[in-house]
Amino acid sequence: MKINKVYQGDCFELIKQIDDESINLIVCDGPFGVTENDWDKIKNIQEYNLNLIKLFSRILKKGGSLYLFGKPDCIDFIDYRPYLNLNAKIVWYQPSRLAQGRTNYTNNYDIIAYFTKGKTTKVFNLNHIRVPQLVELEHRKRCENVPSVMNGKFHKTKFNGNGKNPGDVWGDIKQLTYKSKELISRELLNTIQKPIKLIERIVKASSNEGDLVLDPFAGVGTTFAVCKELKRNFIGFEINSAFVEICNKRIKEIKLKQESKLFV
Ligand SMILES: C[S@@+](CC[C@H](N)C(=O)[O-])C[C@H]1O[C@@H](n2cnc3c(N)ncnc32)[C@H](O)[C@@H]1O
Repeated sequence: MKINKVYQGDCFELIKQIDDESINLIVCDGPFGVTENDWDKIKNIQEYNLNLIKLFSRILKKGGSLYLFGKPDCIDFIDYRPYLNLNAKIVWYQPSRLAQGRTNYTNNYDIIAYFTKGKTTKVFNLNHIRVPQLVELEHRKRCENVPSVMNGKFHKTKFNGNGKNPGDVWGDIKQLTYKSKELISRELLNTIQKPIKLIERIVKASSNEGDLVLDPFAGVGTTFAVCKELKRNFIGFEINSAFVEICNKRIKEIKLKQESKLFV
C-alpha cells in the first residue's frame, strides 16, 4: 500500500492491505456511537472498539502506539489485554461544553485511550510536549521534598524550566467552535474535526520524523495536516469521498506552504 495517501473506503476492508508490524502510530477517531450520523450508529461500541484493537495489534510495530478516541465507557468490560497494553486513559476535558443535564451530571470529557504494543521500546518524546509549569519556581524549591505518587517515599522533585508532563487530563486544548480559524466547514463541527493542537500532541509524543502514522477514520484530514508539518509519513482511510477530497486539498495546501518557504 502506497504511503502519504488517503484511500476512500471502509477501513475494515482497507486495513487488510497493510503489512504486519509496519505502523508506528495509529490515531483512531472513529465512531463514538452517540450521534445521528449513519456511520456512528453502532450497536455495541465496546465490541466495535475491541474489533479495531485486534486489527490494529497485527499492523502496529512492537512498541508502536494507538490513541483511541471515545466516550468515557468506550472500552469498558472488554478484554483488550491479549492484544495491546493500556498505558493511560487520557481525559480530554471540555469545561465549556453545554451542561444541560437535569437528572445526572453532564458529561464534559472524552476519553483518548493510549495503548502500546508490548511494554517496551515505545517512543515517548516528553520534551516535545511539555506544558507550562503552573507553580512558581521559588515555591517549588521550598517544597522540593515531596512524597512520590508511586511509593509514598520522599524525594526531591525535578523542576524542568521547559515545562511539565501534560498529565492525563488535557483541559488546555479546546474543542473547535464556529469561530475557530482552522474549521474546515461549519456543518461538520461537533461530529468531525479535531483541533490541530490535540493531534499534534499525540503525533509529537508517539512518533519521530519519518515514522508511519495511520488514521483509519480520516474525517477532514487533521492527522495528515499535522503529519505533513512534522515530517511524518501517513496512510489514511475515509469512507466518505467528499471528505477524502477535503483531506487531499488540505495536504496539498501544506505542501505548497512548505515549498513556498523553501524559496523565500
Ligand atoms: C470523528 S470523524 C474523524 C475526524 C477527524 N479526526 C478530523 O479531525 O477530521 C470520523 C470519520 O470516520 C469516517 N468513517 C466512519 N466509519 C468508517 C469506516 N468504516 N471506514 C472509514 N471511514 C469511516 C466518517 O465518515 C468520519 O469522517
